[in-house]
Amino acid sequence: MQVIADAACCVASWAADGRQPYHGRLMHVLVTGGAGYIGSITVERLLAAGHAVTVLDTLVTGHRGAVPDGAELVIGSVGDQDSVGRLLRDRRVDAVLHCAARSLVGQSVAEPALYYQENVVGGVALLNAMRETGVGRLVFSSTAAVYGTPLSTPIDEDAPLRPINPYGATKLAFEEAMRWYGAACGIRSVSLRYFNAAGASAERGEEHDPETHLIPNLLKACLGGPPLTIFGTDYPTPDGTAVRDYIHVLDLADAHIAALELTASSDSGLRICNLGSGSGYSVLEVLRAAESVVGRPVPHALGDRRAGDPPVLVASNERAGTLLGWQPRRGTPQEMIGSAWDLMQRRAAARGAG
Ligand SMILES: NC(=O)c1ccc[n+]([C@@H]2O[C@H](COP(=O)([O-])OP(=O)(O)OC[C@H]3O[C@@H](n4cnc5c(N)ncnc54)[C@H](O)[C@@H]3O)[C@@H](O)[C@H]2O)c1
Repeated sequence: MQVIADAACCVASWAADGRQPYHGRLMHVLVTGGAGYIGSITVERLLAAGHAVTVLDTLVTGHRGAVPDGAELVIGSVGDQDSVGRLLRDRRVDAVLHCAARSLVGQSVAEPALYYQENVVGGVALLNAMRETGVGRLVFSSTAAVYGTPLSTPIDEDAPLRPINPYGATKLAFEEAMRWYGAACGIRSVSLRYFNAAGASAERGEEHDPETHLIPNLLKACLGGPPLTIFGTDYPTPDGTAVRDYIHVLDLADAHIAALELTASSDSGLRICNLGSGSGYSVLEVLRAAESVVGRPVPHALGDRRAGDPPVLVASNERAGTLLGWQPRRGTPQEMIGSAWDLMQRRAAARGAG
């Protein structure tokens, strides 16, 4: 593992600042995948709340520059059990936020071995390292893909679990491992099943390659990239296009902090919680919202449905309210698209100035 900055610096400056000492509600959090989209923005919020953060990331899809100042970056894999154990012990980590994963559905179908190795075997190595070092608090980035094609919507946490691709299956397999490790060694964990993360903070956003998500692809189309293809226009939805539940990445980050706090006090074992808005927007509604934000038409083409794409995927978020005291606060597509567009514009201006 390669250490990029020394966590001791963060902790020392923290004490010198006269802020609260290490114990109490402040935590030292290991964020796996903290150089990725959701992880890096959550790191930003954790630091702003006064927590200390170490990021563990291979940079396979993440970016070194996405890790906020003030967090230590360690380049390495969650699957390296001995090194992760040393990291947990040396940094006196209180809780782990496990965002690292492979998460491309199509790739998972073509390369299931990669997904089982990274998402399941790698995750179990992390659990073993936690067990060995006595770190007993874990929050996990799970996904709506564990439900597969739902029988009804909104989807609550008791809906049947029938993933239809290795990505969803490996996320579900890791949830099961969390459950059994919780029972056997007292790890207190929360699995957050996200629906579609969207938007940006003032400094960080989505930078995937390939990009499979709707909003960044809409904005790229506006900037001269390939026209957006709308897959399916004959779904049983009001305008014929698929409906999805979008959640602002800053709201997601806040939910992670609430979940980490919950692991301080909850009983051992696994809690499961959807993170969605409870309502959805169609692809065409999102496209129209993007046009209103950007002020020009989004080049697009109409295509056939893709295999395995359900007409509607919307979360029930009642449990998130009762368990985490959490509600999304930035719920309109305009807010999500607007934040992503603003960041793109600022970056383009900075490149122009540079
Ligand atoms: N983006 C979404 O809408 C969405 C929806 C549902 C679930 N999720 C889940 O949320 C998490 C974060 O998603 P994201 O969109 O930020 O993805 P991302 O690809 O931007 O971030 C994942 C990070 O994990 C790192 N990583 C991958 N394998 C690793 C390993 N073995 N060890 C250490 N680091 C490793 C990558 O380099 C990357 O920085 C993932 O677990 C994903 O499955 C995301």
